[in-house]
Amino acid sequence: AQLGVVLVAAGRGERLGAGVPKAFVELGGRTLVEHCVETIVSLHGGGHLVIVVPEEAAAATLELASRLVPAGSAWEVAVTPGGRERHESVRFGVAALHETVDLVLVHDAARPLTPAALFERVGAEVRRTGASVIPALPVVDTLKRVSADRVVHETVDRAPLVAVQTPQGFPREQLAAAHDRLGSAPAGSEPTDDAEVVQRAGGSVRTVEGETLAHKLTTPGDLALLEALLQALLA
Ligand code: CTP
Ligand code: MG
Repeated sequence: AQLGVVLVAAGRGERLGAGVPKAFVELGGRTLVEHCVETIVSLHGGGHLVIVVPEEAAAATLELASRLVPAGSAWEVAVTPGGRERHESVRFGVAALHETVDLVLVHDAARPLTPAALFERVGAEVRRTGASVIPALPVVDTLKRVSADRVVHETVDRAPLVAVQTPQGFPREQLAAAHDRLGSAPAGSEPTDDAEVVQRAGGSVRTVEGETLAHKLTTPGDLALLEALLQALLA
């Protein structure tokens, strides 16, 4: 199978509130996009990486990413502008992949420490099953359903629940067809991941074991956590 990776980095990062788009925030002296690109271009066998960024960041990102591709690597990098919602950015990214790509991994730039092993695990399971595959971890906290006024109504059984991550892997046709079918989702019902897009189109999705290191940067507290994880990795 010919591998393609869509790295979505076109969000505004409103919950982080760093003043720059989240994917361009630095962690240990390098931007989140750089961390992700380094990992992706280390994957064996090569492929086509499309980075989806805010339009104004396109030229600089291409330059930066191209410098991270090792000489003689079988990875090719391209950059394309994103959309207003994440699912639009993914759709544009998939459309920009070479026609020969038939297995797609979609990854959030906001998960900068995701190890190469997770990309390999997800990709291998797509190849093995021909299905869509997402990384998932068991939920460890006790879960409660609460109302807007903060009153607790009930405890939710966590046994059948998992927290999901990226990269999420798909046979290209399944992902592209599902996104085409979704079109522009009505405001308020935007899917928050690609597995949801595939499921809305009737597709089935499997899970593999996720990774703690695939933690997503969402709020300022996550930045401190990721800094600590990075220091531990470097130690
Ligand atoms: N993303 C994107 N295009 C969008 C929205 C999100 O490419 N229109 C990307 C983000 O850059 C991020 C990933 O999707 O890598 C996950 O989204 P999220 O964590 O929500 O990031 P932001 O949308 O940037 O953050 P916020 O929702 O706080 O504004
Ligand atoms: Mg968002």
